Amino acid sequence: MTKKRYVIVGTGGRAISFIEPLVTRHAADAELLALCDLSAARLAHYDALLAGSLGYRALPTYTADRFDAMLREQRPDVVIVTSKDSTHHDYIMRSLRAGCDVITEKPMTIDAGKCAAVLAAVDATGRRVRVGFNYRWQAYRTRVKELLAAGTIGRVRAVNLEYVLDMRHGVDYYRRWHAHLAESGGLLVHKSTHHFDLVNWWLDAIPDEVFARGQLDFYGRANAVARGDEALTRYPRYTDEPAAATDPFRLNLRDGGNLESLYLRAEADSGYVRDRNVFGDGIDIYDNMGALVRYRTGELLTYSLVSFSSREGMRVSFTGDRGTLEYHEFLGTHIIRGQSDAELDREQSTADRPSEFIRVYPHFQPSYEVEVERAKGGHGGADPALMANLFAADAPADPFGRAAGHEQGAASILVGIAANESIATHRPVKLLDLLPLRPTAVRLSELI
Ligand SMILES: NC(=O)c1ccc[n+]([C@@H]2O[C@H](COP(=O)([O-])OP(=O)(O)OC[C@H]3O[C@@H](n4cnc5c(N)ncnc54)[C@H](O)[C@@H]3O)[C@@H](O)[C@H]2O)c1
Repeated sequence: MTKKRYVIVGTGGRAISFIEPLVTRHAADAELLALCDLSAARLAHYDALLAGSLGYRALPTYTADRFDAMLREQRPDVVIVTSKDSTHHDYIMRSLRAGCDVITEKPMTIDAGKCAAVLAAVDATGRRVRVGFNYRWQAYRTRVKELLAAGTIGRVRAVNLEYVLDMRHGVDYYRRWHAHLAESGGLLVHKSTHHFDLVNWWLDAIPDEVFARGQLDFYGRANAVARGDEALTRYPRYTDEPAAATDPFRLNLRDGGNLESLYLRAEADSGYVRDRNVFGDGIDIYDNMGALVRYRTGELLTYSLVSFSSREGMRVSFTGDRGTLEYHEFLGTHIIRGQSDAELDREQSTADRPSEFIRVYPHFQPSYEVEVERAKGGHGGADPALMANLFAADAPADPFGRAAGHEQGAASILVGIAANESIATHRPVKLLDLLPLRPTAVRLSELI
């Protein structure tokens, strides 16, 4: 059997989650041909890893200006896009036009214009885009889908989803490009795309209208000064800054490991500073957000995201005609830094009082907990499950419809994009006014 041929663009922290399974577990079905990134130093980091501990081989590397040359010379079947969010649409469209399929990290892109351009490019080329919604592939979340689809609480009418990001993970967004709307779409796109996708998929529903509020209450210079934390604002970055030695928000890139070789040594050729002061100037995203989402099928989602919590995780409650289902997931957190699945497992096992459960409260009957077997690997076992589905020639059937294409990718980001618009205009925003995403479709599963 011929192996499927892959290249990757964007070799930062996340890329390892694709590179490692491609060249190890799935090497019989897949061949990784080449890497592309803005930074030659980051490419060298991954090449050393490939030729070293991953036991593969050093690969041809291409700087971003030579992306099209990579496609011409390597002739891949599939391009994997793991670059900064604001660049996804460009690489997706160039890959499709070169005759390749695409696997893109979430968010598919960050605004309505770019989203429309991606959808048009798929239509024009007939090629396929898959969005790496790893959240769907975690065992508990899959079980929630199964329970709701089985009618366990009747027809679902209301969903409350509260997500909190903690002082390791939440804070990290404000050190990097994520802190700028133009680069990430803000957390309502960058992060909430996971949550909006989960709700779309759990309900098998298509979002229709969004009203949202968002504010910056904690990060940024002005908030720190107002709290009496002016001392934390005095340096532009943390590494090699003596005054930051006891700053609890610091990140030290000089770690003699992945952070140093992926980011510190790559500053000169990419200009990307990974450890900016989270109480600096120029942050234009929100850290405290709420949205009310109405679906084409009538359900209401009440959503909140706070990124300066001391806890990390989510509480979701579904209320249906015949009862309530609650899903809680508080497993701790990690910072993406090129971690392997084994490293992630170690960090997750040290989470502060980790807890995850599903409990069903039927009307007029005793409540009960639903048993779920916990899986191992990155993001609670979701990463290896998704990778097997993406790369294995004999991937098991997926009765839960967890694979998402470009239209389902759009259905999720459009909620965040509409929320950003609603925050700016103080008005509810109809998703169909942003983009005509299959206006006659009713269920998410009707979308590719
Ligand atoms: N599904 C998940 O759980 C998950 C987790 C983390 C990150 N991600 C996604 O993965 C992507 C990468 O995130 P990350 O954490 O690795 O960020 P990162 O900052 O570590 O890496 C981003 C990479 O993109 C490269 N880049 C920037 N502009 C580029 C350009 N014009 N051309 C080519 N390369 C360019 C940078 O040089 C860097 O190597 C993001 O889209 C993010 O949303 C997904």
